[in-house]
This record gives sequence, structure tokens and C-alpha cells, in this order.
Amino acid sequence: MERRSFFQTGLAASLLGVGGGTALPAWLSASPRRLPDGSVRLSSNENPLGISAAARQAIIDGLDLCNRYPGASAAPVIEVLAKKHGVEPANIQLGAGSTEILQMFVQLFGGRIIAADPTFEDVPEYAEPFSIPFDRVPLLPDYSHDIDRMRERAQRTRGTAVAYICNPNNPTATITPCGQIDEWIKSAPDNVYFLIDEAYYEFAENADGYWSALKWVKTNPKVVVVRTFSKIYGMAGLRLGYAIAHEDTIERIGAIASSNSVNHLASVAGLASLHDEEMIPRSFNTNERARRILEATLDELGIERLPSHTNFLMHRITGDLVDYQNRMRERGWLVGRAFPPMLSYNRVSMGLPEDMERFSETLREFRSRSWV
Ligand SMILES: Cc1ncc(COP(=O)(O)O)c(C=O)c1O
Repeated sequence: MERRSFFQTGLAASLLGVGGGTALPAWLSASPRRLPDGSVRLSSNENPLGISAAARQAIIDGLDLCNRYPGASAAPVIEVLAKKHGVEPANIQLGAGSTEILQMFVQLFGGRIIAADPTFEDVPEYAEPFSIPFDRVPLLPDYSHDIDRMRERAQRTRGTAVAYICNPNNPTATITPCGQIDEWIKSAPDNVYFLIDEAYYEFAENADGYWSALKWVKTNPKVVVVRTFSKIYGMAGLRLGYAIAHEDTIERIGAIASSNSVNHLASVAGLASLHDEEMIPRSFNTNERARRILEATLDELGIERLPSHTNFLMHRITGDLVDYQNRMRERGWLVGRAFPPMLSYNRVSMGLPEDMERFSETLREFRSRSWV
């Protein structure tokens, strides 16, 4: 709930203001990189490049069809995704962001969820209102999932167990060796489902020991892979995500999915992004440059950091996390939020490389004041 109320109250209250003749809050008409007060948001793992030029043009061209229901717009996206992933269209379900996909599967499976601690908060939030039991298994000292303990918990579960594996993990940005996950999937009994969240896959795909769980979906109806257009394609505000799973599983999820939740502009922008071969390397390379700048600064200042395989990272702070975030905000940076139990760490998302150069200056100041 904390994250939602942040967006609904804190951020909204500080940013609301009526812009131009649009009657939109001012921050909605601000530049994609900066809030109206000049601050830069490094708190939501967004893509600072914005959407691709091709997606922008597709949206403009797509405006003429916004009076129509978007059902037909989804089919070409599904088709291209199926080709990209070497599956059939029947293996794909689109959603309004991957969070909608997670919500649907939490509700569909309904069994005990076994997840890392900390991990992406939406999943426990979706389980709570339905009183779906949620087991948190602390990450290992290297911040990978403790697959052995998760497995034990699943073995002790009567009825359906759902292993939610966020890989790379949010908020730690760390990866869990995929060989371990494969071993578990291979030997799992029938009551265990795997919800594998690969929201940051494209940032991690070259890492040692990391690969997608996609290879399972054709033969194993218990494995669901979740992806998004929000991160590498920069489409967080458009809302497009998807599940890749066995056709029987997709059929089951289709039965509870709401109709038309994916809007026409998201579909055409998604399609254009998939066709824009430059988008992934551009996002990846920009993120690498930004992250290297930040990592070098943290190392120079002797600040402990977790290895990152994503567009964000966690680093140690000194003192109170809220004080840290407030001081950052005073200097024009929106960072982090609390990720219990890791309250002595800040999570920072990458901006553009030049943002991270400036952010590094703030870190140097903080270090000189022992705030980090
Ligand atoms: C691990 C993870 N999964 C899913 C999501 C949801 O993303 P979206 O709904 O924008 O696709 C996020 C968003 O930050 C995330 O970090």
C-alpha cells in the first residue's frame, strides 16, 4: 500500500497544478525527464530516454482510431511477440502493464505464494485482499533467491504453491542463477506453479548464469514468464505487458482477463517498438553508461553497493533512509522508497549518463557530510 499511497498523495500533492488549457496536472505536461520544479525522478526504474521515435509516430497515426474498441489492435502485437519468442500466439496474453498480468495470475492460481524478501511489492499487494497466504523467504547473502528454502516451503504446502521469482529481482537488482531455477522446475511436483517475472530481462540477458525461463512454456503449463514494455522500451505510461505460457494456461488466464484492458495507443506503440531494432541496444547502452558512472562514484567514495543487472541499483546509506531521501529531494533528486528489511540501503534508478554525473556530485557532498 505504501507505494500506491505515495503516488496518490505525496507525489500528486506536490505536483498538482493545472497546466495550459489541457486541465492536466502540470507534471503531465512537463518534459519527460524533469518535474516542473526541475527535479529528476530516479525512483521508479523508468527509462529516461522516453519512448522510441517510431512509437511516438505510431501513437500520432493511431489517434484516428481511438473512437474504436481496441480488440483488433492486439492481434498484430501478439503475432510479433510470438515470433520474437519462438512460440505461438496462443502462448501469449497481453495486459495493461505486466502488473496486471501478475494480478491475474495471483488470482487465478490462488494458492500459497512463496517469494523472496524483499521482492517486487505488487505481488503481495494483490494476494492480500484475497487472503492468499504469502511466504517471504529472505534472500541469500549474495542477494539471490534462496531456492532451496523456497522449495522446502513449497514441499510443505498442501494444495497449490506459487513460486514468484523476480529475476533480476526488484529492489535488489541481483540475479538468481537460472540453473537452480531450472532444477527446481524440472523436479517440481504437480502442485507447484512458477510465476517468473522477467521485467528487467533485457538488461540482464548477457549476465553469466542468467537466461529466460521461456524454454519451459511449451511443455510445462505450470511455468508463466512475465515481461513488460515499461522498462527497456520506455513505455511505462502507456501500460503494456504480457505473459508467455503454455496454451492451456493462457486459455485459463484469458477466461478471467478483462476485455480491452490494453488500449489502442499502447498496442500500436508496442508494435512500433518491437519493429524498432535500435530501441533495445539504445536503452541498454545508455543504461550501461549511466550505471558505470554511478558505480565508479560509489566505489570511489567507498560506499557499499549491490551488483546490478538492471536499470537501478541499491547502495548503503548512513543514518535514516527518510532523511536521506528528503535531503536528496531538496537537491532535486527523487530516489528510493523504503524496501524493508533493507532500510539501510537506498534504491536509485538510472537517469541519463549526464544525470548520473550530476547525481555523483550530490553523492560526493553527502559523503563529505557522512549522510552516505
Ligand atoms: C519486477 C517488476 N515486475 C513488474 C513490474 C510492473 O511493471 P509494468 O506494470 O509497468 O509492466 C515492475 C515495475 O516496476 C517491476 O519492477
